[in-house]
Amino acid sequence: MTKSEWRKKIKNELLSLEPRDRKVLSEKAAAQLFTTERWMNANIIGITVSRKFELDTTMIIKKAWDEGKTVCVPKCYSSNKQMEFRELNSFHELENVYMDLYEPIEEKTTVIEKENIDLLIVPGLIFDKKGYRIGYGGGYYDRYLQNYQGSTISICYSFQTAETLPFEEFDVPVDRIITEEGRYK
Ligand SMILES: Nc1ncnc2c1ncn2[C@@H]1O[C@H](COP(=O)(O)OP(=O)(O)OP(=O)(O)O)[C@@H](O)[C@H]1O
Ligand SMILES: [Mg+2]
Repeated sequence: MTKSEWRKKIKNELLSLEPRDRKVLSEKAAAQLFTTERWMNANIIGITVSRKFELDTTMIIKKAWDEGKTVCVPKCYSSNKQMEFRELNSFHELENVYMDLYEPIEEKTTVIEKENIDLLIVPGLIFDKKGYRIGYGGGYYDRYLQNYQGSTISICYSFQTAETLPFEEFDVPVDRIITEEGRYK
């Protein structure tokens, strides 16, 4: 299957997940994440604010705050397809930019430089055993990860995993993949 065929297939599966299952599976996957060294050792965590059809990341953000970690979330700039991470201290510092996509408000947040992020939770639609991922097709994460030196983990439902996926020279794999069933990579 091509990248775009994978995107379509997985998006449909995500959309058909019951809210109850989304909650249970997201909590299970998050619990797996919290047991990793990478999570425990990270002081500054970069993570996306999940949309309604995606694995719920809000409980991960809250847990990070509870543990005294610093959370930063991405702000995307479509003009140059670049992305930066901004420190988030409250969900009130977010604004709705498109559909149910939330991003940090520039006036209320400050940038956290890439070299200071210990752990990046990288989103995506489907992931393979080598850590390759297919995202939404913007290339935002592939660009950002190019010179990123910290740890990367993706967290997803087990149906978002495949043996092997098509990848191109600019695709950057993640270090680890975690699902509700445990570690995948
Ligand atoms: N390092 C890069 N420099 C310039 N363009 C890039 C880079 N990485 C990816 N791109 C561009 O981004 C486009 C989308 O890449 P791809 O289809 O892999 O998206 P994706 O991995 O699903 O997106 P994302 O990284 O946002 O999750 C590619 O066609 C490519 O031209
Ligand atoms: Mg890619």
